[in-house]
Amino acid sequence: MNLGLTDKIAVVGASSKGLGKAIAFGLAQEGAKVTVCARNSNTLETTAEEIRNQTNSEVLAVPTDVSQPEQVESLINKAIAHFGGIDILVNNAGGPRAGRFDDLSAEDYLNAVHLNLMSTINLCRAVVPTMRARGGGRIINLTSVSVKQPVDGLMLSNMARTGVIGFAKTLATELAPDKILVNNVCPGIIFTDRIKQLATVRAEEAGISFDAALERMTADIPLGRIGDPEEFANLVVFLASERASYITGATIQADGGMVKSLL
Ligand SMILES: NC(=O)c1ccc[n+]([C@@H]2O[C@H](COP(=O)([O-])OP(=O)(O)OC[C@H]3O[C@@H](n4cnc5c(N)ncnc54)[C@H](OP(=O)(O)O)[C@@H]3O)[C@@H](O)[C@H]2O)c1
Repeated sequence: MNLGLTDKIAVVGASSKGLGKAIAFGLAQEGAKVTVCARNSNTLETTAEEIRNQTNSEVLAVPTDVSQPEQVESLINKAIAHFGGIDILVNNAGGPRAGRFDDLSAEDYLNAVHLNLMSTINLCRAVVPTMRARGGGRIINLTSVSVKQPVDGLMLSNMARTGVIGFAKTLATELAPDKILVNNVCPGIIFTDRIKQLATVRAEEAGISFDAALERMTADIPLGRIGDPEEFANLVVFLASERASYITGATIQADGGMVKSLL
């Protein structure tokens, strides 16, 4: 299948590691020009160089904290100045801290809203003008299976990410006349540093080993294994592509069958 991504221009949030990195890599492999961002500039530049070397695609690295509105604006301005516009935006940020109601302060809730909801809104606000000017685009929001089935002990993720779904569904309708398609993707358990951190927390809470915690996390996955970042990235690359031209307002999980709900 020709995905039609050659020379498309993409910005991928939080992309020096994990899912964002796999998505940036997947888009670059298909010939897209990619802007990557994250807070730590050393890790980010190493990732950018790795993607350039392995794909021959043009990669711009812009150190950014996506929870900070002025840094988001600067990221998008730099990407547009460098590449001439943006066709694809993948909204991604780090995960909010784990915790239950009794563990969390009011500030924790606000921080999660800034990190996982406002970053998405601010990035969309910054890219829509250039997408409109280019006659269309793709916005893909990385959320979590927590939007379909809340995850025990992840209050902040369960709370902030559902706001993204309401925002995106409304945006998909409003931007359809501009041929800007907006979709959400939901990772189940995909093996990245985030999952290693969560397994460490679970192991401490339950007084079990890290491997035993990972095994418990796998128990609910019908495919019987944790996913690989590339398997998740493939879904995003498809949604970013020309082949996904009739999909908008959708929320799709890649979770090995973990979510039990019908939709
Ligand atoms: N992996 C999974 O199975 C899974 C499941 C459900 C949901 N998720 C969610 O998917 C997202 C990505 O997870 P992951 O597994 O890829 O995590 P990861 O491996 O820990 O990578 C996180 C990436 O985000 C960057 N980042 C963190 N905070 C940032 C910020 N404020 N601004 C810009 N970049 C930032 C990190 O770089 P710096 O630290 O240098 O900024 C790093 O590049 C998270 O929101 C996570 O909660 C993941």
